[in-house]
Amino acid sequence: MLTEKMQTALNGQLNAELYSSYLYLSMSAYLKSLNLNGFANWMRIQAQEELVHVMKFYDYINERDGRVSLTAVAAPPNEWDSAAAAFAHVYEHEQKVTRLINQLVNLAISEKDHASNNFLQWFISEQVEEEASVNAVVQKLKLMGDAPGGLFIIDQELAARVFTPPPATGE
Ligand code: FEO
Repeated sequence: MLTEKMQTALNGQLNAELYSSYLYLSMSAYLKSLNLNGFANWMRIQAQEELVHVMKFYDYINERDGRVSLTAVAAPPNEWDSAAAAFAHVYEHEQKVTRLINQLVNLAISEKDHASNNFLQWFISEQVEEEASVNAVVQKLKLMGDAPGGLFIIDQELAARVFTPPPATGE
């Protein structure tokens, strides 16, 4: 059984993960409008991965005999100044998510909720990967600067990303 505090915080994170998905889908649409199909593909897969995170919280809350409660998801921005600006925003956003996950772990520890702490460790590792993968793109975009064709080359690289569905869980 989850404590009330833990349940509220986990539901809050479920909402934050939905927002992340919404944000990245909006970025995907923006990148698509620039005909950067590879960038748009990368971001669309990022949005799908966030939905996997959502369902992990959903399943975990249920597994602990808690109550999932869905709340309004804020509208994301629709426009950025450039692909580089959108990716810089992703990096900043993921750092914020890392802080939220760290706060959840702190709460699990203070509530002496070892199961939640254990569940959240997957997200601790995931955030390291997420920050690294988006930062790799941010750094490439910086290196490219105004080099002609640079955006096209990175776009082709990002087109190769594929979504790997997680193993089936839940009921
Ligand atoms: Fe769900 Fe991108 O962290």
